[in-house]
Amino acid sequence: MKGLNKLSFKFRTFALIKKRKKMSIITQNISIQKVSKSRISEVNFKNLSFGQEFSDHMLVCDYKNGVWQQPQIVPFENISLSPASKIFHYGQSVFEGMKAYKDKNDEILLFRPLENQKRINISSKRLAIPEFPENYFMESLETLLKLDKDWIPTTDGSSLYIRPFVFATGNGFHASPSDAYKFIIATSPSGAYFSGKVKVLIEEKYSRSANGGVGFAKAGGNYAGQFYPTQLAKEKGYQQVIWTDDNTHEYIEEAGAMNIFIRIGDTLITTPTSDRILDGITRKSIITIAEDAGIKVEIRKVKVSELIDASKKGELKEMFGAGTAAVISPIAGFGFRGEDYELPTLENSYATQLKKQITNIQYNRAEDKFGWRYKVKE
Ligand code: PLP
Ligand code: COI
Repeated sequence: MKGLNKLSFKFRTFALIKKRKKMSIITQNISIQKVSKSRISEVNFKNLSFGQEFSDHMLVCDYKNGVWQQPQIVPFENISLSPASKIFHYGQSVFEGMKAYKDKNDEILLFRPLENQKRINISSKRLAIPEFPENYFMESLETLLKLDKDWIPTTDGSSLYIRPFVFATGNGFHASPSDAYKFIIATSPSGAYFSGKVKVLIEEKYSRSANGGVGFAKAGGNYAGQFYPTQLAKEKGYQQVIWTDDNTHEYIEEAGAMNIFIRIGDTLITTPTSDRILDGITRKSIITIAEDAGIKVEIRKVKVSELIDASKKGELKEMFGAGTAAVISPIAGFGFRGEDYELPTLENSYATQLKKQITNIQYNRAEDKFGWRYKVKE
């Protein structure tokens, strides 16, 4: 009996290794079905809003029978799903946000794309979604970008926003993980996420996330849960909510679509990431750039009361959000318990300096001393 168990274990292990090997050594062949006529002439590239126009093609890859199938590039078009698809009922869905830039030599550039590739799988794992094979991600993305290269805007402050996402396509009302998924990469020539400075409301009643939850994942549901409190904040004249910890509501966490930086005196402070906070790629890049520029950076918890004290003493010099879509978005002021606290307008603020440095790297206008720029090879 013992021998038999050992044998079956060995067989299962072999099968698993074989399966894993198969996943990692596949050199994929991406099939491409091009549009018969491009829609590009319909788009006003001089006046782009965020995420409203969509490039000609998208990449689609299905997961079925326990395997990710061959990725395909097809025209950007509607997809057909059964009303019983689990995405509609149980929200099994994660996504990423990235940008492609084109420099003056017409090269396609990405910013730390392997971080997104890793993070989508961290998010997927938490949502019981099968991880997307590493080698598929970059090859799929690069093939799509080369095909839709003309859709990458070059006007200042704009870029091609890239949205990779995965969702459950298996059918059934049973509350259990789906057995089928779709991975899609869609792209959108986009301008700024926020126009101008952002006014934020520090939230004390609602929570975005909790310990042990899915706050660190880029799960669609995290955003759905924010919409109602953000709508209430908007009615009061604020554009974003700053979330506080769900336990005490005393500590600053992050904003709806950005990590938060606070400048008290000349020290730049950002909260540590956790189960509840997205480990932002812009955030960690800003920390590195700021430290390299000799700015004192502290990664520590910040109480709302510390923010208010600093504001009252005139020591709160800046706050800004950092994220792929938002880049670096200066905060004009914040509301808390019915009072508004304004932030001063500084010449040569940290936000301005750091935004310049990070975008210079992204758009290939400066040396890339940290090795973050990724050139898509033709
Ligand atoms: N926090 C949240 C909730 C976000 O949605 C985002 C955007 O992606 C960020 C932070 C910033 O992350 P990143 O810089 O990786 O885009
Ligand atoms: C991004 O910054 O890329 C995001 O995913 C945020 C999103 C809410 C636009």
